[in-house]
Amino acid sequence: MSAIEEIRSCFPQLSRKVYGRPLVYLDNAATSLRPDSVIKRWTEMSSYSTANLHRAVHHIAAEATEAYENARDAVAEFINASAREEVIFTSGATESLNFAAIGIGDAFINEGDEIIVSEAEHHSDLVPWQMLCHRRGARMVRFPVDDNGCLHPERLRSLITPRTKLVCVAHASNVLGIVNPLREFARICRQSGVMLLVDGAQGIVHQKLDVQETGCDFYVFSGHKMYGAPGTGVLWGRRELLEAMPPVFGGGEMIEKVGWESSEWAPLPRKFEAGTQDISAVPCWIPAIRMTETMPQDDSVRDFVFSALQTIPGLRLYGIPVDVKDKLPLFSFTVDGAHHEDLALILDKMGIAVRSGQMCAEPLMERFGVTGMLRASFAPYNTMQEAEYFLSSLRKAIMMLK
Ligand code: ALA
Repeated sequence: MSAIEEIRSCFPQLSRKVYGRPLVYLDNAATSLRPDSVIKRWTEMSSYSTANLHRAVHHIAAEATEAYENARDAVAEFINASAREEVIFTSGATESLNFAAIGIGDAFINEGDEIIVSEAEHHSDLVPWQMLCHRRGARMVRFPVDDNGCLHPERLRSLITPRTKLVCVAHASNVLGIVNPLREFARICRQSGVMLLVDGAQGIVHQKLDVQETGCDFYVFSGHKMYGAPGTGVLWGRRELLEAMPPVFGGGEMIEKVGWESSEWAPLPRKFEAGTQDISAVPCWIPAIRMTETMPQDDSVRDFVFSALQTIPGLRLYGIPVDVKDKLPLFSFTVDGAHHEDLALILDKMGIAVRSGQMCAEPLMERFGVTGMLRASFAPYNTMQEAEYFLSSLRKAIMMLK
C-alpha cells in the first residue's frame, strides 16, 4: 500500500460513493473527514468512560477527567503554549471568538477605542467584533486586502493609531487560502502595544503553529476542521490577558467560592469552562493531533491545481500570493457565464463535493464584486487523480452551462 493509500484507508467516508461514483471530497475547509482513530476514541469514551468531569471521586469520573485533561496537555504541546492553563476548551472557533470578544471587550475596550479587522475574515471573526463595538462604543477599522487577496504589514502599520487596542486577522482566510505574514503582524502590534488575535481555523490544519514563536496574543481553532470531533474548539491566550478577562458563562466548575450575592472565579482554565464539557469529544484531540502530524507534506496537488485553474478561460481565481508556498490547497473562483451554484450542483452529480456561495464572508464578496464563489478545498488525503478528475469535470460542467 502506498503512503497516501494508507492514509486514505484511515478515513471510512473516503470509501463512499455518491450517485454511483467514488466520492471526491473537496469541502475540507468546511469540515474535514474523521479518521477511525477519532471515531474509535469517541465511541470508547461514550461506551465505557462516561462520567462528569472534575466533580465526583469515583473511578470512572477520574478516568474521564484524566482523558479530558490529557487532551489539554496535548493541545498545549501541539501549539507550544507556555502553560497548559492557557488552553481553554470551547465548542469551536466561533465560540472561542465570541468568548474572546466578550472577555477582551469587558477587560480592555473603552468608548472611542479602535479594533482593526481584516476584510478577509469569516463572519465568526467579524460579527463578534461588531457586537463588541456596539456594546462599548468602539470603532471597527477595515484592514483591506489587495486585488490578489494579500494583506500587507505596512498597510497594517498605517492603520494603527493611539486608539487601536486590537488587531484581528486569520492565519489564512477560508476564501483566499493565503497564509498571512503573522510574525510581521505580531511585531508591528508589539511595537505599538496592540493585541493581536489570530483565527487559526484554516491555517493550523495545514501549517504547524507555535504560538510563542509567532508572537500573537490569542489564537483560536476548531477540532472538526483538523480531523477531530465536531463541537470542540480551542481559545488560546497569553496567561496575563486571560487572567484579566472576566468569565463569559457562569455556572458549575468555573467558580472558586459562591456566596448569595457574589462569587469568586476559579483559576484558569476552569474560569472559562462553565458547566458540563464535551466528555467524549474533547479526548479526541489526541488522535486528531496525531493524524494532523502524520499527514504527508506534499504540495504537488496544490501546485498542480493552482496552475491548472489559471489556464481555464473565463475563470477568476481569488487569493493569489506572490509565492505559491504561501497558498493553502484551497481555491475559490468564479467563472464568467456559469453560476457557482449551478457548477457545484453539476460537480455533485459527478461525485465531487465542493462549496459554493458567500462562504460566510459577505464583505469579502462585496470587495471582489461577486455574489458568491465556488470553492474546492483539498486535504492531504486527496490524490493527484482526484485533482485531475476535478479539473476535467469542472471543464465539462463549464461547457454544459455555456
Ligand atoms: N468556515 C467554514 C467554511 O469556510 C464553514 O466553509
